[in-house]
This record gives sequence, structure tokens and C-alpha cells, in this order.
Amino acid sequence: MSNKMWGGRFGEAPDQIMEEINASIGFDKRFYSQDIRASKAHCTMLAKKGIISQADADQILVGLDTVLGEIEAGEFTFKRELEDIHMNVESRLAELIGPTAGRLHTGRSRNDQVANDFKLYIRDTLDHLDGQLEGFMGALLNLAEKNADTVMPGFTHLQTAQPVTYGHHCLAFVEMASRDKGRFQDARARLNECPLGAAALAGTSFPIDREMTAKALGFDRPTRNSLDSVSDRDFVLETLSAASITAIHLSRMAEEIVIWMSAGFKFIKLPDSLTTGSSIMPQKKNPDAAELVRAKTGRIVGALNALLIVMKGLPLAYSKDMQEDKETAFDALDSLSLCLAAMTAMISRLEVNKDKMRHAAAQDFSTATDLADWVVRELGVPFRQAHHITGTLVALAEKKGCDLSDLSLADMQAVEPGITDAIYSVLGVDNSVASRTSFGGTSPDNVRASVKAWRERLAK
Ligand code: ARG
Repeated sequence: MSNKMWGGRFGEAPDQIMEEINASIGFDKRFYSQDIRASKAHCTMLAKKGIISQADADQILVGLDTVLGEIEAGEFTFKRELEDIHMNVESRLAELIGPTAGRLHTGRSRNDQVANDFKLYIRDTLDHLDGQLEGFMGALLNLAEKNADTVMPGFTHLQTAQPVTYGHHCLAFVEMASRDKGRFQDARARLNECPLGAAALAGTSFPIDREMTAKALGFDRPTRNSLDSVSDRDFVLETLSAASITAIHLSRMAEEIVIWMSAGFKFIKLPDSLTTGSSIMPQKKNPDAAELVRAKTGRIVGALNALLIVMKGLPLAYSKDMQEDKETAFDALDSLSLCLAAMTAMISRLEVNKDKMRHAAAQDFSTATDLADWVVRELGVPFRQAHHITGTLVALAEKKGCDLSDLSLADMQAVEPGITDAIYSVLGVDNSVASRTSFGGTSPDNVRASVKAWRERLAK
């Protein structure tokens, strides 16, 4: 038997291998609720415009609710020979209400249907990720507040650079997360145009009301060009691009968790429940969750890459290539959601070893810049020259195997006679971070003010 949804002109049924490569039901069943919601909006509009009778529409609407109930109860049998979610739903509708079901597909096509369903699905996903990002930011703000004056080494090139506060470090990730949130919101705003009614590619001769369906589905307006409507997947690409950037942020943070938990650092600890053990080395406690967050970036960025390559060079309008937009996107967005949840859990529960951080912050001449700044401020020496004086003192301390603050005043004055013992106050790490009060700087006061400002912004 040929395919009952489109088999009119076919003399034989699809080959097994045709069916296998063609079917998308294995993955697009995921947007059954979006598909049914959109069908109901389309059906209501068809009746309002007198394209189908109200009596037929009523039957269709009841039937669609029955199908929805069956799927949600796990009583629905998805059939591969029916290819995709659209035809599975419609075919079951026909079993339930008879030939009237066939009126639902008036003035639409699977091409506009799938674009529409996927937009609705991505929109829901974006809203979910937005909420997750907010939770993640909240957890970071709590950690920042608790560590507003926890001193740690700030790094460049992963070499100790200057002391910073751990709270300030946490707030750097809040900034990233807020840009991520903004990108998701931008993507959502741009995708929010309804392709339904573009039909296969050219629009339709039926007097449909696209404004009505767009409004019913929470879209801002209908899409303007039927060809673009069915061939556009920018909304998936944009979402995956925003997801990729978020993923690399999470990955960078995960990498720090891995490094900071290692024996060489011991800056932080994760609770037992968020780590794993080794089957051979009884002493091990591994940051697997952080490692997996770091690694899952691969599949998220991979999904973006995969879809860019699918779309590249596709002629207008719809081509079946575009069915390949879903699986990797689903996987990437699921993965990102999982990573955000895991990261939020780790951030909420990690313990900070303040002594270790502080000790490390005082190593490797981390306050050399403070010394140079003091020479500029107190002695009126140009910064470049102060830099040179400080460099000489660092070399001296290195030679003596001591810290800058261990150099005697006589040693210092031998290099720069103007130095007084007031210099020692700026060589401590607490003074160093407390002095960094410039806008966006690391001082504990800045951290506290930033946390407060972020909380107010998020509450709006
Ligand atoms: N399953 C298809 C997809 O995901 C739906 C659209 C099919 N359209 C078509 N003309 N065969 O893209």
C-alpha cells in the first residue's frame, strides 16, 4: 500500500530504506504539544474565516485534544511509516473523527507547520534557559557576597598577577551570564514571527487570516515572505550560537573548578555528593561534573557547526536537508540545560579554602604593582620609571629568596632613596584589593555594591 497521507500518485509503498532515512518521528515527536497547539489555532482560524464549517472545526478541536491526551498518557502509538509528528497526529485524528480530519490541512503544508512547531519549541526552550541562567546568576551572587573580601591571586597567563577578591571573580561570570541571557532574549525577539500560512512555499489561495493564528500562538506578527518562512532556520542557528557562547563560559568556569580543586591549588572543595571516586585509587575525589560541563561544550558547538553546514548552499525554499536541523539542536539544548543545572549546583555548594587562596595571593610578588603605584603617587615619579624601580626591587628580593615586604628599608632606599616605611602598608594583599576602588575594580566595597545592584536588576 502506498503512503496514505501523500500516496495518491504512487504505485508502490516506500522501500524499507526509504522509510528509514526519511522518517523523523523518532525525534520530532518531541514537539507534539507545539504541533497540536498550532493545529488548533489553524483550525479555529479556518472556521472563523468560513473556510471550514464550525461543526467540522469543533470535531477537529475535540479530536486534537483526544490525541494530545493519548500522547501525554503514553497511550499513543507513533508509526514510522507516517514519517513525522505532523502526519502521526493527523492520521490518528482521522481514526478518531473520520474524513473531516482531512479538512485541517487546508491552506497549510508540513513545510510551514514544521517551521512553526520548531519556533514554538525553541521559544519554550529559550524561556526555560533564561530562567536557568537567572538561577545560575543568583547562585553566583550568593557566592560573591560571601566572598566579597576573600583574597585570591588574580591571574594572567595563569601566572599570579595581582591580588583580587573571589567575590569579584564570581561577578565576572555574572557579567558573562547576563550577556548570555541577553543573547537568548534577542534570539527570542527575532524568532517571534509566525510562519504558519506560508503553506508549502507560495502562500495559499484560501482567505486565511495569518494575523489571527500568529496572535493565537503568542507571535508578534506573521512572517512577511512565504519563501523565507519555510526556508529560514536562522532562529535555530542563533539559538545554537548563543548556546555555544554560554557553553564556553560554563566550560571556562568548569576548567577553573578542576584546577582549583587539584592538589597544587586546593582553593575550593566540592561536596562528596557532587564528585565521584576512583575504582582503583581509594583516596580519589574527582570533579567529574565540572569535567563533563567542560566537555559537553563540544557537542553544543558541534550542533551549531552541523546546522551551519546543513544550511549552507541550500536553494530556496524547503529541502528535506532541513529535517536535519532537529536532533543535534535538541541534544545541544538539552546538554546546555543539564550543564547549567550542574554548574548551579556546584556553585551553590562549593566550599572556599580562604587561607589557601590568601596565601597564594601573597606569593610571587603579587603586590609589585601596588609598590610601583605608591612610588608614582608619593614621590611623583612617572609610572614607567616607577615600574623600573620596582622591577629592580623584585630582582633583589628574588636574589635574596624573600618577598618584597621582607626587604629592609635600607635595601629599598638603596634603589630609590625617596622610599619611606609607609611603603610596607601597600605591600599587604588586603590593602592591595581594598585600594582597587576604580569603577569595575576588585575592592570588597565594589563587590558588595555590585551584588546589590545585580540583585535589584534581576528583581525587575
Ligand atoms: N519532517 C519534516 C521536517 O522535519 C517535515 C516537513 C516535511 N515536508 C516535506 N515537504 N516533506 O522537516
